[in-house]
Amino acid sequence: MGRRFQNCLAIAMLACLGLPAHAQTRTAPPVWTVPEVGALPNDAHGQLVRRGRDLITATYAHIGPQVTDISKRYAGNNLACSNCHLSAGTKKFAIPLFGLYWDFPQYSARQGKDISIEDRINSCMARSMNGKPMPVDLPEMQAMVAYLRFLTTGVPPGRELPGLGAGKMPELKRAADPARGKAVYARACSACHGPDGRGIPRTHPITDLGYMIPPLWGPDSFNNGAGMARLITAANFIHFNMPHGADYLNPQLSVMQAWDVAAYMISQPRPAKPNLDRDFPALLEKPVDTPYGPYADKFSERQHKYGPFAPIRNAIKKLKAQKPQSQ
Ligand code: HEC
Ligand code: HEC
Repeated sequence: MGRRFQNCLAIAMLACLGLPAHAQTRTAPPVWTVPEVGALPNDAHGQLVRRGRDLITATYAHIGPQVTDISKRYAGNNLACSNCHLSAGTKKFAIPLFGLYWDFPQYSARQGKDISIEDRINSCMARSMNGKPMPVDLPEMQAMVAYLRFLTTGVPPGRELPGLGAGKMPELKRAADPARGKAVYARACSACHGPDGRGIPRTHPITDLGYMIPPLWGPDSFNNGAGMARLITAANFIHFNMPHGADYLNPQLSVMQAWDVAAYMISQPRPAKPNLDRDFPALLEKPVDTPYGPYADKFSERQHKYGPFAPIRNAIKKLKAQKPQSQ
């Protein structure tokens, strides 16, 4: 992720300096740009990609827990994928969905094996969306995959685009502090996400589903096995994207405020995912900020949840060095 972030800054600087005109030819674009869905023809492929985009931006309306067709109720909450994968998965450091298609199948430490792009989507379905996996041949799954593939148009296999993930700001030497975060929340988040973190539902009489402002905790939020429930992911996402409208070039919160408010958010009640102890079967590969055990090291669940993480990383490094490299 560190490399991802540096690449991006380099590209941003290039853009500021201005590229020589000869570098801006159609054949060899110096900077990859997000392909435009609206420019697709209205043929079968164009319709599939548009459908996939709709499923990402209005997930709740198609596969949410309140849709009329009970057989389509895959998501367990009324979030949209794009509540986290902002701008329909096209915003840098808002966990974008572009340029990923060729990265799969990909080794997943969480599952301890290679996973397909459908598995990756289902991982968010089971955790971020607190729901159940969709079959690979479900039309809605195929449409989402078609959209992700479209968002990789012009990216050759193996090329990593700048801006992936949620960014990487410096870490604190101390544990992130939910009590300080509570004050940040009251000042910078509460007006939108609400004092109780429940967000603001839409109120259109016809499409009365989903949120104008999504919840950050409570029964309709992501569950405790989700990536957003881990401090490092949450703090970086918040730093580079919240309050809504902030981006990586114009963060609004200080680094410290972002760590503390993320600590406050992940301390609040949310749905529980069963069998979390089975995640990350190879414990040495478990991200240091996984807030649930078991762990390979001796640090407390509390330190894994709130940091500081450097001592944990050092312990893991030592354990890895002791372990025979046979696996
Ligand atoms: C609550 C926030 C949230 C929601 C809602 C959500 N995701 Fe995610 N998603 C994440 C996080 C966090 C990651 C992990 C990013 C990382 O690796 O640091 C992720 C990762 C992914 C990835 C892999 C991205 C990468 O960089 O490798 C895909 C694909 C994905 N999600 C698809 C979806 C789809 C499709 C939906 C809706 C069905 C969805 N997500 C809903 C938070 C969310
Ligand atoms: C101006 C209103 C506004 C403010 C202020 C704001 N947010 Fe958000 N937040 C949003 C909206 C809207 C989304 C969904 C974005 C989308 O769907 O494009 C969102 C999404 C999120 C998400 C991912 C989706 C989810 O439900 O988990 C997190 C996490 C988040 N905000 C945290 C925060 C934190 C922490 C703060 C305070 C530092 C904050 N936000 C301040 C409007 C706001």
